[in-house]
Amino acid sequence: MEIIQIKKLTKRFPMGKGEFTALKEIDLTFTKGEFAGLIGPSGSGKTTLLNIVGSLDVPTEGEVLVLGKSIGNLNQKDAAQLRKESLGFIFQSYNLLQVHTVYENVEFPLLLLKKSASERRKMVMDALEWVGLTDKEKSKPPQLSGGECQRVAVARAMVKKPSVVLADEPTANLDAKNSHNILKTMLNLNRELNTTFIFATHDEKVISYLRRKIFLLDGQVEKDVIVENPKS
Ligand SMILES: Nc1ncnc2c1ncn2[C@@H]1O[C@H](COP(=O)(O)OP(=O)(O)OP(=O)(O)O)[C@@H](O)[C@H]1O
Ligand SMILES: [Mg+2]
Repeated sequence: MEIIQIKKLTKRFPMGKGEFTALKEIDLTFTKGEFAGLIGPSGSGKTTLLNIVGSLDVPTEGEVLVLGKSIGNLNQKDAAQLRKESLGFIFQSYNLLQVHTVYENVEFPLLLLKKSASERRKMVMDALEWVGLTDKEKSKPPQLSGGECQRVAVARAMVKKPSVVLADEPTANLDAKNSHNILKTMLNLNRELNTTFIFATHDEKVISYLRRKIFLLDGQVEKDVIVENPKS
């Protein structure tokens, strides 16, 4: 099942008196359950592409369909609805709420979905178990290590079991051991829940786990490769 279709996507940003073309006529399709990554040098357009797929930005030209919805045609309310129901985000900088507990951080997306307290409790504890943080539910981010914060961010992205998780440099602040742990956790969730993962990265550790590698250069797809014998 094709859950993301990108057709002739061009993205231009205003720059000075002119424009800068960040993405040029990108064509890509993602099917349910992929574990794929956008790979490319700084400035190649990875974050720009993830932001549009995540309905945080809109195409200049072309069409992007996410779960059948055309990103360029959504109003703010419909875009917010798509994000809260179907998309999970993991950012490089975690974006955790510092004064709230681990439990509350992971619970947050469920409050937007108006789940009952008992449903929320079960879903949050499941998500904390996936990332091995059940014993830290009452801690706050400043009391956690970088790797633990990143695991909270993964739990928060996964707690509602979204169709798609978009992860922008999710291991940027982690050491090798924590990076591998988090990647194995995400790969397990990909297999168990059939969640589609799309990464933006230039980290070799992340790249070694990908099932599909999409190389971007200057806003264009340079290569799109399915990995035959991926790391498990
Ligand atoms: N809001 C904006 N206004 C103007 N130019 C922008 C804007 N956002 C991104 N760009 C430009 O578009 C290009 C692609 O940026 P993008 O953030 O997608 O790169 P990236 O591949 O994610 O790089 P990195 O690996 O450094 O995160 C860059 O040259 C950037 O300067
Ligand atoms: Mg980026």
